[in-house]
Amino acid sequence: MDVAREFPHCSAVAVDLVPMQSIHMPANCRSEVDDINLGLEHFYGDFNVVHVQLISAGIRDYHAMINQISHVLRPGGLIDITEYPFYFTGPDKKPIIKPKGSFEPPWTALWMSYASRAITARGGSTDAALHLPDWISSNPAFEDVVVRDSWMPASPWLKGDDPETIFWNDIAVTLREDMKVFMRSGRPLLLGHGLSADFVDAMEHNACQELDEAKTPLYALIRNVYARKRL
Ligand SMILES: C[S@@+](CC[C@H](N)C(=O)[O-])C[C@H]1O[C@@H](n2cnc3c(N)ncnc32)[C@H](O)[C@@H]1O
Repeated sequence: MDVAREFPHCSAVAVDLVPMQSIHMPANCRSEVDDINLGLEHFYGDFNVVHVQLISAGIRDYHAMINQISHVLRPGGLIDITEYPFYFTGPDKKPIIKPKGSFEPPWTALWMSYASRAITARGGSTDAALHLPDWISSNPAFEDVVVRDSWMPASPWLKGDDPETIFWNDIAVTLREDMKVFMRSGRPLLLGHGLSADFVDAMEHNACQELDEAKTPLYALIRNVYARKRL
């Protein structure tokens, strides 16, 4: 919808498993309910731009999806993908991945470790963000590959009142609320993966408290990769 508004001369198609519920759909944007796992043959050769954002949990073979996108794009077209690796890091930017059976802080990172395992067990591609640069660079259809990483604080724990710190802490306030909603909606996923309700509730409660206190230095990596389809 953002693209359709910003570029009123274009025709945009919004694809998701679930119907889009917005009543503010611009006239030059239509939505389509599709399972991307079933292929994109019906879109081959139709688009100048393909944008993909945060769908890896529902994609069985992300590498194959990138190949499908190479056929959806017209020559010279833009592929633009943003994904997240389903872990938090500390200030050293190293992944905090807690093993099965652990119950210890940082709680938000612990919750994500369990969620990542549960999503992987259901066939999702939690590691897509890490492989994106290689998968796109090694595809002969693409050139001019650009990788951009952003490290977003999980809560407004950064110290300082300079404009950059304020900028990232503002983003962190939004991410913190998103994370709480994600944990609430991810409860059935964790229960379905065999964790007990008491375990899941305690972990979520501790993680919410940790996020509200905003003292634990956690970052989320968001990776954007874009490239051009060769002429
Ligand atoms: C975290 S949301 C991101 C939504 C949107 N792309 C954004 O960035 O705001 C993940 C979305 O991916 C969709 N999704 C997951 N697997 C999918 C699939 N196989 N085919 C189509 N959509 C899928 C889900 O329905 C959900 O709306």
